Formats: sequence, structure tokens, C-alpha cells
Amino acid sequence: MLCPTSPHLALLALLSVAGAVGPGEPCPSEMNLIKDRLQVNCSGKGLSVVPLALPRNTGILLLSTNRLASVSTASLQHLPALAELDLSGNALGVLHTEAPLLLLQELILSHNALELLPTLQGLPALTRLTLAHNNISELLPGAFRDVGNLTELNLRGNRLRTLPEEAFEGLAELKDLDLSDNALEKLPRGLLAGLELNTLWLSGNQLRTLPSGFFPEGHMFAYVYLAGNPWRCDCGLAYLQAWIVDNDISIYIQELSSDGLLTENDPQSPVCDSPLKHHGRPVIQLQPVCGKAGDTDLDIDGTMTEEGTPVPSATAVLVKQPYKPTCTPSVYHNTHWRGCMPA
Ligand SMILES: *[C@@H]1O[C@H](CO)[C@@H](O)[C@H](O)[C@H]1NC(C)=O
Ligand SMILES: *[C@@H]1O[C@H](CO)[C@@H](O)[C@H](O)[C@H]1NC(C)=O
Ligand SMILES: *[C@@H]1O[C@H](CO)[C@@H](O)[C@H](O)[C@H]1NC(C)=O
Repeated sequence: MLCPTSPHLALLALLSVAGAVGPGEPCPSEMNLIKDRLQVNCSGKGLSVVPLALPRNTGILLLSTNRLASVSTASLQHLPALAELDLSGNALGVLHTEAPLLLLQELILSHNALELLPTLQGLPALTRLTLAHNNISELLPGAFRDVGNLTELNLRGNRLRTLPEEAFEGLAELKDLDLSDNALEKLPRGLLAGLELNTLWLSGNQLRTLPSGFFPEGHMFAYVYLAGNPWRCDCGLAYLQAWIVDNDISIYIQELSSDGLLTENDPQSPVCDSPLKHHGRPVIQLQPVCGKAGDTDLDIDGTMTEEGTPVPSATAVLVKQPYKPTCTPSVYHNTHWRGCMPA
């Protein structure tokens, strides 16, 4: 421990003590005029427990960037009006939600150390759940059964490798599902059955193909992100390739540019990783030549036909007329649009 040796240092030491908020001191609060709720800001105060001295009518509670390792909704029962809770950037390994928070709509748990999905009973009004950048490696069937009103679910940046077919069962209201930047290698055919998503993020995974029938028949998405996967461009990709051709206006990328984060329609963004001869080529430019009609019903690997005879590895050829998007001035400057023709 350093001892102050001059009046200046002594003053500095005093100031830094005064700047820290002790367990009994209140967190600053103000009315959030947009959301018309009392917002209490306990972020960045080095807290390891949820403070008790909070206004009873707290509607939004910010507890980000503290040292909370375990939280139970039992410690929030004195806040019956709580609608939004931000616990991001702590060291949370455990969250218990048995004690009900009947009005809680939004729960932010990103940048914590959760390895398991918290049990989510006691939160019937939840519509937005953010679990991005945790350590979740597995979801059980019906994992979100208790929060059937979710409209937004963010699981970006976890360690998911696969998912059970029933992972999102019952989420009839879900509009935005973010599974990007995980380690997903395979997805089951029925994963999206019963969902009516606007936005699906699958970018930044280890997907080589998607099973035939993966996207609900006749459903139009507003945004689908597929870039950053090692797509294997053989007959096993015929289903996805055809889907991309039919849904080119829904295929988007997001990237950092000098103008900030750009979201652009880019049907060329899903790119083949293998076989070598197609490496780096946009999936949409390929046309499967898979022999007889029945051959599109290949198994997931796309290496065998139904009869068990091997399919040649070189099963895709360039479409004669490469895809030429027309574009607005804003997308014209996007380097992804190499073949972009000014409209
Ligand atoms: C909450 O407080 C922290 C630390 O004082 C501050 O950095 C942050 O901007 C505040 N957030 C809001 C939304 O007021
Ligand atoms: C996530 O899990 C990995 C492997 O078990 C571990 O090395 C890492 O420290 C964990 N990260 C966090 C934030 O707990
Ligand atoms: C959805 O919300 C309504 C009212 O907000 C509630 O009564 C119902 O239990 C919720 N549904 C689920 C599955 O939690």
C-alpha cells in the first residue's frame, strides 16, 4: 500500500475514496422520458450484491459492469414495477428467476460467464432476452417454454455447436433470433418450425450446409445473415442455393465501415469454402448439376445419393450469366458489390 507523501497526493486519495459509492448510498436516478419509467443507474460501481436502497417505483435498473457473480430475482422483490434489467458485463455464472418479476420485459445478460441457460420461470412478461457473449454450449428442448412471449432472443457469441430441433419451441411471437458467432456445425431440419421470424442471424458459424426444408415454406424473412460460414458447395447445398436465389432480397451482411456499422442487402455474401475449385465463390453464382431429379434429396453431407452411390465432388458449375445486382448509391460504395451496376 502506497502512503501519500505530499498534500496533493493525500487530496487525490481522499477524492478517489469520495468517488466510490458504498453499499448504503443510492444510485443516481432519473425519469427516462422516452420509456416513461424511472431509470436507476447502478452501473460501474463495483457492486457484488444488488443494492437494497432503491426507489420502489424503479422501472429500469442498470447494473452493468459490476462484480455480480450470482443474482436471484428474490433480491429484486422490493421493485414490483421493474420492467428492464441490465446485468451485462458482470461475472454472472448463476441467475435464479424462481421469485417472480411479473412485469419484467427486458433482461440483458450479455458479457457474463453463464455456461447454462438460466431457468426462466417467474418472468412471464419477458419479450427481449439478451444472452450474447456468454459461455453457453447447450440448449435443451423447449428451453424457452416459460417465456413464450419473447420477440427478441440474442444468443450471439456463445459456444453452441448444435441445437435440438425443439430448442425454440413455443416461441410464436419471436421476430428476431440471433445465433451468430457460435460454433454451430449442423442445424436440425425443424428448428424454425412454428416460428415467424423477421430476422435470423446464422453468420459466423461452422455451417457447411442447411438441411432441405430448413426455412419454413412460403415464409418471407426481412433479414437473413448467412456470411462467415464454410459452405460446402456440392449437391448437399442444392436446397440452400435454391433458397438463396429465391430469397436474394432477404440476404444481408453487416460490417464495420468508415461510416459505422453498415447493414446491406448482399446475396453474394454466403461464399463457398469447399470444394477447393469453388473456394471463395458466392453460393448464388453456382448452379447445382446433380444428375437426375431425385438427387436433390441428398443426405446432409451431399456425398451419397439415396441409393448409396457416391456423387462426384465436382457437382456445381458457374451459371452462364453471373448475378448482376443493380444498386443504390449507398450500396454502390460497398466493396462486396463487385458486380454492382448503377441503377
Ligand atoms: C450510468 O452510470 C455510468 C457510470 O457512472 C455511466 O458511465 C453511464 O453512462 C450511465 N448510463 C446511463 C444510461 O445513464
Ligand atoms: C468459457 O469457457 C472456457 C472453456 O471452459 C473458459 O476457458 C473461459 O474462461 C470461459 N469464459 C468465461 C468468461 O467464463
Ligand atoms: C404472455 O403474456 C401474457 C400477458 O402479458 C401472460 O398472461 C402469458 O402468461 C404470457 N405467456 C407466456 C407463455 O408466458
